[in-house]
Amino acid sequence: MFPEMSQKIEPLSGPKPFIKWVGGKHSIVNELTSCFPKDFGTYFEPFLGGGSVFFKLQHQQAIISDENQWLIDAYLALKSDWKLVAGHLDKMINTDQEFLRIRSVNPWTLDLYERAAQFIYLNKTCFRGLFRVNQKGQFNVPYGVYDRRYYDAQNFEAISLALSQAEIKSCDFELSLYGVSGDDFVYFDPPYYKLGGYSNFNRYTSQQFREKDHFRLAALCRELDAKGIRWAVSNSDTGFIRQLFSGFQIHLISARREINLNSHNRDVVELLITNYNVS
Ligand SMILES: C[S@@+](CC[C@H](N)C(=O)[O-])C[C@H]1O[C@@H](n2cnc3c(N)ncnc32)[C@H](O)[C@@H]1O
Repeated sequence: MFPEMSQKIEPLSGPKPFIKWVGGKHSIVNELTSCFPKDFGTYFEPFLGGGSVFFKLQHQQAIISDENQWLIDAYLALKSDWKLVAGHLDKMINTDQEFLRIRSVNPWTLDLYERAAQFIYLNKTCFRGLFRVNQKGQFNVPYGVYDRRYYDAQNFEAISLALSQAEIKSCDFELSLYGVSGDDFVYFDPPYYKLGGYSNFNRYTSQQFREKDHFRLAALCRELDAKGIRWAVSNSDTGFIRQLFSGFQIHLISARREINLNSHNRDVVELLITNYNVS
């Protein structure tokens, strides 16, 4: 449907996320990274999502992870052979019947590259690029009727290169920091705390990120702080989060976000909390 040959190749300043991801930091990535330490050892990003911050930083040593294994498999496939993923995508057709057929295929019956192509295809063709699975882990977002390219070959190549040095893992954030030490830096971008509970529209995995997980994260941050390891955490500007991270530095970041399903954009302020001075 969108053959690679017809793609217009444009110069890229660096790799960009290959998927649309709820909570993606693309629009505020410069503001965020300007608050990061200037020098550090290994970069850890345990809530990788679409990877906008990782791709922007292009730090030489990085350990990146996310609990969503299907997403992480897409990274692993692009790292190992992006052309194979692209080849599968070239054969996939953007119609509602094909969408339903491809969505109904159990990803765990496919090989790594087919599964990555299925993931990217669904992201590009489903309603608003949402990722939502039911409790059995089955993707259940409806068709979106968009005429978008599935990928940009030059970007896939740049992504593959950026990933070549990185260690990529699928795991819960608490297990992701194995080996972290003194001069390393960790950026945490968890599913945001929402007043009144969680939103069903950012169910990134079959589990929800609940209040107890925000407590787990804050406890981990305090542990790292006690060891002198620097970190930054993004989250919503709510009393709960401010209280959870009390004693640390709180910076306000303004973001233009799609807020609700009527697709209204509004300026919102979110928090970046750090355990170091931002210069
Ligand atoms: C706000 S998104 C990250 C967005 C990312 N910074 C970007 O720019 O696209 C949060 C991510 O956390 C992941 N996640 C949810 N629960 C998790 C957990 N317990 N451990 C690790 N990752 C988790 C989700 O799969 C999702 O990709």
